[in-house]
Amino acid sequence: MTALAAVSSVAYRAQQIALVSACGYVQRVARRVLMREREVFSPEQLADLRRRHRALIARDVANVEAGIYPRALLFQIPFADYARRLPRLAWDVPAMLQRRARGGWRELPRDIDLSRYPPYYRRTFHWQTDGYLSQHSAELYDLGVEFLFGGTADVMRRQALVPLIELAGRDNRPLRILDVGCGTGRTLAQLRRACPRAQLTGVDLSPYYLEVARRETASSPGVELVAANAESLPLPDASFDAVVSVFLFHELPRAARRRVWSEVRRVLKPGGSFVVLDSIQRADARAISYFVDRFAEDMHEPFYRDYLDDDLAAGLEASGFRVSTVSEAYLAKVVTARVPEVASKE
Ligand SMILES: C[S@@+](CC[C@H](N)C(=O)[O-])C[C@H]1O[C@@H](n2cnc3c(N)ncnc32)[C@H](O)[C@@H]1O
Repeated sequence: MTALAAVSSVAYRAQQIALVSACGYVQRVARRVLMREREVFSPEQLADLRRRHRALIARDVANVEAGIYPRALLFQIPFADYARRLPRLAWDVPAMLQRRARGGWRELPRDIDLSRYPPYYRRTFHWQTDGYLSQHSAELYDLGVEFLFGGTADVMRRQALVPLIELAGRDNRPLRILDVGCGTGRTLAQLRRACPRAQLTGVDLSPYYLEVARRETASSPGVELVAANAESLPLPDASFDAVVSVFLFHELPRAARRRVWSEVRRVLKPGGSFVVLDSIQRADARAISYFVDRFAEDMHEPFYRDYLDDDLAAGLEASGFRVSTVSEAYLAKVVTARVPEVASKE
């Protein structure tokens, strides 16, 4: 390793420790002051979270040092942009807390046609203003998620890139890759840098989030964005080498989750890969059930409890995929699966 690489790894670790400490501190103070809540986690639980955090950062650095993805990804949090948005997010937090207190999960913008969206989607997920259905929400989302996860949201997301990069191989094959529930495009943007020859497509239900994704990927040719329900993808059969999905399935009811898996299977070529990155689940997370159990109420995630018990690997197998690996990445897990070369009759 060169001296420059060693210095940048140390700088990256320092950045991540500073971010997780600062965000954690602000969250604790905010809970105490705004919600009159005392310490949420015991010292043992905090130690466990810190151990998981260290393991994620070590895995990220190891991926860079193994040449799996570019070092530049370690430093791609847009700090200046987030600093500009911070006052708007801070201004919004009291409104979110009040919405939580009055249970205002139906408080969506009045000037949009809600009938275009499935019932489970018409809600203020995370108690965020306008749910997923406004430019305001789309512009604050990434900052809010990075703050919630102490600067690890993009780090967790890029653990889903690893199997896709391996699939592209050393000669960087021009794969066709679909990101289902791509949101504001954070995974697509990282994928674009890691697999520059891939043709990327992102699908999301929110036209507002796709607008941010369009800006996020504007400088990258070969990224197509489609506003659609992932339960019925407007895409041809067997048209993708790989599909990735990040932080989507915990927000869907079980039946919708299965319909999306069936659509993913349809659009994948025989032998194609499906990489899912989402929250850890009950069976993985016994040790941190204190954390995941709070999430459903705190963040208005009504389908999260069902997700916790709907083991991804078992569900994907039952939906006709062959699961090859399952690994944990801090508060997330990565499941890689394949469509069999010869379609089974299931
Ligand atoms: C928690 S966000 C995750 C977004 C993004 N993948 C990320 O890593 O930040 C869930 C995303 O899934 C989208 N979504 C939810 N249900 C959907 C559906 N049925 N079809 C397409 N997108 C959906 C939402 O609009 C939102 O952008």
